[in-house]
Amino acid sequence: MSRIAYVNGRYIPHAQASVHIEDRGYQFADGIYEVCEIREGYIIDETGHLDRLERSLHELEIAKPMSRAALKLVMKNLIRKNRINSGMIYLQVTRGVAPRDHVFPGPHVAPSIVMTAKSVASTVGDAKASKGVAVISLPDNRWDRVDIKTVSLLPNVLAKQKARETGAFEAWFVDGDDKVTEGSSTNAWIINQDGVLITRPAEHGILRGITRATVLRVAEAHNIPVEERSFSVEEAQQAREAFITAASTIVMPVVKVNDAIIGNGQPGSIATELRQLFHQHAEHIKL
Ligand code: PDD
Repeated sequence: MSRIAYVNGRYIPHAQASVHIEDRGYQFADGIYEVCEIREGYIIDETGHLDRLERSLHELEIAKPMSRAALKLVMKNLIRKNRINSGMIYLQVTRGVAPRDHVFPGPHVAPSIVMTAKSVASTVGDAKASKGVAVISLPDNRWDRVDIKTVSLLPNVLAKQKARETGAFEAWFVDGDDKVTEGSSTNAWIINQDGVLITRPAEHGILRGITRATVLRVAEAHNIPVEERSFSVEEAQQAREAFITAASTIVMPVVKVNDAIIGNGQPGSIATELRQLFHQHAEHIKL
């Protein structure tokens, strides 16, 4: 069965799906995106992702491409057309197609919307989580509105590539005060020796992760103490556990930060438990 993509109102074979060369996403990275997990016939935390999509559009003054109800319908259709049981759906909205000019093109130009979906077996993430992953740290060289989920991801791309070249899975960005902001495509967490979850507050320095918000609810429901504050690489290296969160990884234990082994080098028990409990607390929208 061939993959199907959604492009500006049409369902098209993935291999033929394309946008115009003067799409502002292509020329200026003038657009935003979302990634949702699909798990066993459900879309996970759809409301949170669509709320954030609307917020990102609002912050960049890009018009909504369609109503929330229509968006939900297209997502469902696309996942069904691709016969996906577990995997990911990607949504991207840009300011549209217009002759190249930095200035906004005006309301006559409609935003462009693209969606793709892919199957990913849930066993892939679980296998990785059973071993844990390594992270490296790098200076945070991004702009100060990383709370907006824009497709302008060049620093993130370079950081992730650097991580992979050094044998790590993720790169943690570090700010001018030597505090970890977040990963290149994940939020960063540690658990101190007293069993307290520590993660940076969701201000402008990080993306307000939807997975992060669900993990905070899991922690609350299971009486795991949480401190929303920033932490340094050194503190992370002395932590009992560390992990990262994103729709693409859920809770992924971190067993190494730069050269330092975390705990005994195995995924920590609290991170592992949070991963197991995650879907009991996440929103499930039936396909
Ligand atoms: N990334 N921080 C950054 C910079 C991210 O790109 C992401 C998500 C997150 C976690 O957000 P959430 O829990 O809502 O997925 C944090 C997606 C998965 C991506 O770019 O593929």
